Amino acid sequence: MDLTRFSCEGKVALITGGSRGIGRASALALAEAGADVVVSSRKIADLEPVAQEIRSKGVRGLAVAAHNGKSQDCEMLVQRVVREMGRIDILLNNAGTNPYYGPLMDQDETTYDITMNVNLKGVFLLSQLAARQMKKQGGGCIINVSSIGGLRAEALGIYCVSKAAVIMLTQVMAKEFGQYNIRINAIAPGVIKTRLSEALWKEPSVSQKAIGDTPLMRLGEPEEIAGAVVFLASQAGSYITGETMVIDGGRVHGEPSYNKNAKS
Ligand SMILES: NC(=O)c1ccc[n+]([C@@H]2O[C@H](COP(=O)([O-])OP(=O)(O)OC[C@H]3O[C@@H](n4cnc5c(N)ncnc54)[C@H](OP(=O)(O)O)[C@@H]3O)[C@@H](O)[C@H]2O)c1
Repeated sequence: MDLTRFSCEGKVALITGGSRGIGRASALALAEAGADVVVSSRKIADLEPVAQEIRSKGVRGLAVAAHNGKSQDCEMLVQRVVREMGRIDILLNNAGTNPYYGPLMDQDETTYDITMNVNLKGVFLLSQLAARQMKKQGGGCIINVSSIGGLRAEALGIYCVSKAAVIMLTQVMAKEFGQYNIRINAIAPGVIKTRLSEALWKEPSVSQKAIGDTPLMRLGEPEEIAGAVVFLASQAGSYITGETMVIDGGRVHGEPSYNKNAKS
């Protein structure tokens, strides 16, 4: 196979939530693959070092502060990317939040609104804005970071509902935007060791449970998502749209079968 199909050279990528975790790893991987990369999140001081790392790979890197749940910020972000980089070929909707861990019975309206605004409304608004630009350019690629919590009910309250909606949004957009040569896919990670998921792995008793539920018997690292981002964003993924790629060490298939009776 021609491995240049995995190259992202000449493309401009916009990554939300690019200051750390899955977003940072994906931004650096896309830069390695040759893309110019814009990273965005709320705090510019956290973004600048990532933009610097991107530039050190010989491509253009830019940091733009924006709140994913605010429509004016989304508009400003897309306008800046187009003004300073000239185009948008890849949008990674990765910024996400989970302000509440606890019983759904007690979840309040404020945390509901924050979760849905950042995890769903921001994805919709940015995708719409980016897709209008991609349509003018003749095509593009959008990747939405969902979760296995969007595929099956987990004890993560409205977060799971927002991530399930992202999968449906991905499918609806894929159906409509295919005619403009815009592909839209989702990635559904299991537990990846980042700040957002600290509540699921920092406490050893909690992480042991998560590891025990995972056939590969370990938690994931942000770099293990980044490879899929490059694949989906590049020509190598050119016939994939509306799909949700699960990257979870096998967890979604149920707990491992600890059958110790194998004779070989
Ligand atoms: N880690 C996991 O186990 C896991 C599993 C499934 C899905 N995911 C999803 O993966 C994505 C990335 O999360 P992560 O695990 O890499 O977490 P992370 O390391 O905590 O990174 C989250 C990123 O999102 C940014 N962000 C948060 N709220 C924002 C807002 N309102 N506007 C703009 N940016 C915002 C953060 O920067 P600022 O705070 O500075 O804005 C940061 O850059 C999320 O969508 C998450 O739901 C993660």
